[in-house]
Amino acid sequence: MPNTVILGAQWGDEGKGKVIDIYAAKADYIVRYQGGNNAGHTVVIGGEEFILHLIPSGILHKGKICIIGNGVVVDPKALLEEIETISKKGISVDGRLLISDQAHVIFPYHRKLDELKEGKHGKIGTTKRGIGPCYADKVARSGIRMADLLDDKVFRIKLKDNLDEKNEILSKIYDAPAFSFDAIYAEYTAYASKIRKYITDTGHILNEAIKKRKNVMFEGAQGTLLDVDHGTYPFVTSSNATAGGACTGTGVGPNKIDKVIGVVKAYTTRVGEGPFPTEFGPDLMDRIRKKGKEFGATTGRPRRCGWFDSLVVKHSVEVNGMDEVVVTKLDVLDDLESIKICTAYKFEGRTYDRFPANLRAMEGCQPVYEELPGWKSDTTQVTSYIKLPANAKRYLNRIQKILDKKIVLISVGCDRKQTFARTQPAKL
Ligand code: IMP
Repeated sequence: MPNTVILGAQWGDEGKGKVIDIYAAKADYIVRYQGGNNAGHTVVIGGEEFILHLIPSGILHKGKICIIGNGVVVDPKALLEEIETISKKGISVDGRLLISDQAHVIFPYHRKLDELKEGKHGKIGTTKRGIGPCYADKVARSGIRMADLLDDKVFRIKLKDNLDEKNEILSKIYDAPAFSFDAIYAEYTAYASKIRKYITDTGHILNEAIKKRKNVMFEGAQGTLLDVDHGTYPFVTSSNATAGGACTGTGVGPNKIDKVIGVVKAYTTRVGEGPFPTEFGPDLMDRIRKKGKEFGATTGRPRRCGWFDSLVVKHSVEVNGMDEVVVTKLDVLDDLESIKICTAYKFEGRTYDRFPANLRAMEGCQPVYEELPGWKSDTTQVTSYIKLPANAKRYLNRIQKILDKKIVLISVGCDRKQTFARTQPAKL
């Protein structure tokens, strides 16, 4: 397997967990490059469900090295809880989990500020995990990295500086109680002693591995439309979920990445606030949400659901330099009489065939749809492309034509087994 980035092509929750898990079987190293425990990658193996928020999903495969890259923001409390949860299920991370010494650390004041900002200023609908405030500190050059946490002298100074600033913001802007230096210092030095063994120069390790022709899989979290640069700003997350983030978030140069695979849900969903032109009305919303189990893996929030939006995915193909497409959750559309694909937006007399940066156009536009007949039969037991109903093939072919990208894999259920290649034999 070449060095491959696998990422979400819409607003996240495309079913990447399962796809990453399938490709991980062929990789030697699996690396997360952005986001934090705002992500929720669900993998079902033999009926058992695993939800991973921070640790790369590759950890479920024996012998794989899993890396949390420098572009990730790490909440040590959440990390240790996740290590404990999976170890109770018989999966040990020792010797297989590495964390970048340059990854930034999430502190309780980040979580608090995330929550308070959501309540007071324009609502984004964040996961309230402290992700945005931690990235804001990183960019403001006041963040605390893993390397800083491990050096007591540096940590004391940085924590004090941060608390001086954060406590002033908390009291003066939000009228909220201050955080105690001693309590955070004690809590985080205890975390440091537990996670020290995982922290290292992961960028160098990855580059050395690539020199030795090992295969690296870059595991995207969230989705392209949640990317801080290329998404529906400001209704985005605070990192680069797009393919470029795989380089900045790991320390691997772009010329070392061979392939970008986009995971595309057969319809569209988003969690949180923000424009969503193809959003369903209440009846269909309810039906698809139930059938697709569209509830957040991290927060449990119901996801908003809508028709396939080709402007969104075409934008995603472009900004990621996407080579191939995987279509997930095709089975969720099994019962529908007819299925729509959005091919353009109309706004104030203008027709858009490309994703507009203007939020007002995104919010106020009328989607233009193409309608295709549904297949009205169960696809969850289908094991090969040729056995799909004719109208399901027609839907997939139409998407492939619009995107001008090859669909290589199709998923029709949660289990690893409910996946097949578009061309036989499977070329994973
Ligand atoms: P944050 O990442 O917690 O700051 O949230 C910012 C936006 O990204 C909100 O709309 C969240 O619902 C959304 N978001 C963050 N992580 C995910 C994810 O893994 N899947 C889907 N949406 C997400």
